[in-house]
Amino acid sequence: MTDTTPTIQQNKVIVFDTTLRDGEQSPGATMHLREKIDLAHQLSRLGVDVIEAGFAIASPGDFEAIKTVSDEVQGPVICSLARAMEADIVRAGEALASAKRKRIHTFIATSPVHLTKKLMKTQAEVVQIAYDAVKLACTFTDDVEFSCEDASRSDLDYLVEVINAAIEAGARTINLPDTVGYTMPWQYEQYFEYLRAKIKNPQGIILSAHCHNDLGLAVANTLAAVRAGARQIECTVNGIGERAGNCSLEEVVMALQTRKDFFGLTTGIVSRELCRTSRLVTHITGLRVQRNKAIVGANAFAHEAGIHQDGVLKARDTYEIMRSEDVGWTGDSMVLGKHSGRHAVKACLQELGWSNLQDAIVDKIFARFKALCDKKKEIFNDDLEALAQDELGLDGMPFVLEHISFYGGDHAIPTASVHMTTPDGSVSDSAVGNGPVDAVFQTLQRITNIAVTLDEYSIEAITGGTDALGFVSVSVNADNRKWRGRAADTDIIIASAKAFVNAINKIKKARDFAAQDADSK
Ligand code: KIV
Ligand code: ZN
Repeated sequence: MTDTTPTIQQNKVIVFDTTLRDGEQSPGATMHLREKIDLAHQLSRLGVDVIEAGFAIASPGDFEAIKTVSDEVQGPVICSLARAMEADIVRAGEALASAKRKRIHTFIATSPVHLTKKLMKTQAEVVQIAYDAVKLACTFTDDVEFSCEDASRSDLDYLVEVINAAIEAGARTINLPDTVGYTMPWQYEQYFEYLRAKIKNPQGIILSAHCHNDLGLAVANTLAAVRAGARQIECTVNGIGERAGNCSLEEVVMALQTRKDFFGLTTGIVSRELCRTSRLVTHITGLRVQRNKAIVGANAFAHEAGIHQDGVLKARDTYEIMRSEDVGWTGDSMVLGKHSGRHAVKACLQELGWSNLQDAIVDKIFARFKALCDKKKEIFNDDLEALAQDELGLDGMPFVLEHISFYGGDHAIPTASVHMTTPDGSVSDSAVGNGPVDAVFQTLQRITNIAVTLDEYSIEAITGGTDALGFVSVSVNADNRKWRGRAADTDIIIASAKAFVNAINKIKKARDFAAQDADSK
């Protein structure tokens, strides 16, 4: 086995991205396989050191995603989560088999509340389980991470005991999650200081911070851990994750970069890829970031007050601590016009980071670009990016929307007619609803035979102007889960239909996957 564990460099912080695992645990953020692969490629371009691609035993979909990311994505270490259980660890090892650099991340809870109320185990039993789990994981890879779930509510001396057992068994990274977002920066910093002083072989072990945002402190807590010697930070793009989310990658990375004078540390992140990665995550999950979100929010670099505008015009650093271009703001730059050809569109897509698109996909994006030019005077980077993301989301999907028409008005019954390609061939149908969007949704449910309840619906313009692309995001409920769909079009009813089809495709894929899995057993 070649040892591919990232090495400790005192001045470098390892960025461990868990958007595909903890991030996907956000309600409704389920991603399908192709989307996970696209995101993993983008995370690699972004320069993360470790990609936690999923939780192999959790579902056949997670297993497949880890396996495909392991096959296709080069550069970062690919990691799977596994409870401290034999079946989980073996499954993680199988999913990671083809990865050039692989990590198994195994965990067990250590806090009194988890031990007594969830695991029903004694402290001594948990120490032994942790030791055995790490030992087994080490038979698959040298790179094993061990996490004490709910570490921030665990007894410090007990933590030392569990961690030392994990280190003795071979763990190289020790993660101390603030699982419920409970800790305070000063407290978390002291935890790390104390543990660093007490654990075995502190020079050879990478300490890691993993913070949830229940009190809005995930980034602050992560930075506090870094000050106390943590050299791995676990985060998600846009801060998505369980409940209030995880530590936001873009915020923590830019804090380290902007305040290098204070921390004296670097990361391998290519910061100008941050905005693009954020937009991709938004597009894939349908979870929009708030306008005033640091780094990637629409207002992050906007100056409204006259006094600020005046200052920035005189010298940017009067009110700006970062340059928008350093985090990849492309702004409203116009990229192409109606006379641009396929070659120019392809070159532009490449510049936007879509460098390995298949020709057939470029053709489809180009056709949509031409159609868009007929409707919209100016095409911006964001427009082209939305078309590309939309088109990639359609690739290999069971249901494809071919044509749609609708009829409404204040004296008419809203009616929609839809023609679709389905796994059973071409189907057309129509239905009425209490508005045009509802009529479209009713028709799509009849055609696909997938019944859902609509929980959320939102619409936003991608760029300014009445001819802007409308971005629709829906959240529906089916099979006791939330599913999100999103799509863009200059016509908001068509964008709504596409967003709905996007969610329905996810449900269909998951059902097909579960059926295949049941057949193979
Ligand atoms: O928050 C948490 O404790 C986790 C662990 C599984 C690392 O996500
Ligand atoms: Zn977590």
